[in-house]
Amino acid sequence: MAGRPLVVLVGAPGAGKTTVAAALSRRLGVPFRDTDRDIEKAAGRDIPDIFTNDGEAAFRALETQALRTALAEHDGILSLGGGAILAEENRRALSGHAVIHLAVSMNQGVRRTGMAANRPLLVGINPRATFKTLLTARVPLYQEVSVFEVNTDLLAVDQVVDAIAAWL
Ligand code: S3P
Repeated sequence: MAGRPLVVLVGAPGAGKTTVAAALSRRLGVPFRDTDRDIEKAAGRDIPDIFTNDGEAAFRALETQALRTALAEHDGILSLGGGAILAEENRRALSGHAVIHLAVSMNQGVRRTGMAANRPLLVGINPRATFKTLLTARVPLYQEVSVFEVNTDLLAVDQVVDAIAAWL
């Protein structure tokens, strides 16, 4: 099944990628896919389990594979895990795609994720500092791969979808 995603959503945890991808797919009547879910389905385990038992490097390798496959197969909305842009080969693979950065501030990101146990990288003693470090390292990479940006801090999901649909 060959395809090409209509839109690829990137951004930090808590930016709303998965929620917006689902709402945008309903609005446009196209399917949506999420690489985190693909990884969990293929492994038969959830992400915290993969991180804990196999380590982050193993997770990143699965993520690179899931991204390659989804970019080649999927022709709807694709959302990526927040760290998918860390690998240079992934950033290269995204080149030429309609990549949208859903931006989020530290305050809002910390609030929305609630430092949930299902996000292994964010469980720590100082969630605000962890999130700030993550944003400092990654925002330049989200911006490098994206061609459009929506700051989701003050917007409802429908408003984010409006902004993307108007841009498309
Ligand atoms: C990660 C984000 C998670 C998931 C994994 C690693 C990251 O996805 O891929 O826990 O490195 O930021 P979300 O961005 O959907 O939380």
